[in-house]
Amino acid sequence: MERKRILTGDRPTGKLHLGHYVGSLANRVRLQDEYECFFIIADLHTLTTKPEKEYIEVLADNVRSAALDYLAVGIDPAKSVIYLQSAVPEVIELSLFFQNLITVPRLSRVPSLKEMAQGAGIEEMPFGLLGYPVLQAADILLPRAHLVPVGKDNVAHVEVTREIARRFNYLYGETFPIPDAMVSEYGSLVGTDGNAKMSKSLNNAIFLSDDAKTVEKRVMSMYTDPKRVSADVPGTVEGNPVFQYHDAFNPDKAEVEDLKSRYRLGKVGDVEVKEKLARALNTFLDPIRERRSKYEAQSGLADEVVYDGTMRMREEARATLNLAKKAMGISAVWNRVSRKAEEAKKRRGDK
Ligand code: TRP
Repeated sequence: MERKRILTGDRPTGKLHLGHYVGSLANRVRLQDEYECFFIIADLHTLTTKPEKEYIEVLADNVRSAALDYLAVGIDPAKSVIYLQSAVPEVIELSLFFQNLITVPRLSRVPSLKEMAQGAGIEEMPFGLLGYPVLQAADILLPRAHLVPVGKDNVAHVEVTREIARRFNYLYGETFPIPDAMVSEYGSLVGTDGNAKMSKSLNNAIFLSDDAKTVEKRVMSMYTDPKRVSADVPGTVEGNPVFQYHDAFNPDKAEVEDLKSRYRLGKVGDVEVKEKLARALNTFLDPIRERRSKYEAQSGLADEVVYDGTMRMREEARATLNLAKKAMGISAVWNRVSRKAEEAKKRRGDK
């Protein structure tokens, strides 16, 4: 039986961090055996909030860095497709058809769009940003994906996708599957500063590409329980970022439990807790670093993965777009024009 399809991905805004790993990357690596996976590097989506040249100029580097992060965590190009959105122009054509199947008031109620505008310091909603979920619907439906693993903030976008797919099928006949969102149960990882979310812009992130020394430094300066002015003061484990990281990344559960109980009793220093965390994180990151350096050692290898993936996606895209245009009946318009024109040319030639 044919495997079901997944489409998901990221905007190429820079290096990926541990928060991305627990929130989505780990899940993707797991899913690639069971599903046929397409991972999009959504550079067109970055234009919705950052259309300026200075941001476009860094896209090439960011795309390479995203691809390297994917490969480093274990996304396998022999199993999955990694591709560049802007190199598959069919997505724009499909997106334009979809724009007629959803209303402005409906899109205005998608909460993430206002947040993105605010975050980027944009006062009035750009047309393209309002259309962000419509472009995303085209991403998802271009390979006719069944499942879309996303974070909480993107669930509303998948809901828009489902509405568009239903409307398309209703107007033009059964063409697209109605895809399901798959929300990662982990949610988001706290930052090293205790802020609810790890984020590059908050400068509270540990990157997948950080070396061992950097990880150590970041961990040793992590926010813990502020009430603990010395090692003999009983501390709080719950909500403490150092222990949240231990839970997420330290496979030695006995060590973690021992540290927690001593912490609660005021019988362990922050330094020991952090040193053990740094060690666990570096042990976790070592195979990721190894895979990254393998890909970095061979110049052009990561680019080749994106190139091949994009070529593969282009085939899918052409097939789906042909299906969609046939279903709509829009291809018949040009077909008629070209048939008649050819006939006329032939007749004139015959004379
Ligand atoms: N919207 C996603 C983000 O928040 C990126 C993205 C673009 C995406 N197209 C997608 C995610 C399709 C899942 C499916 O960065």
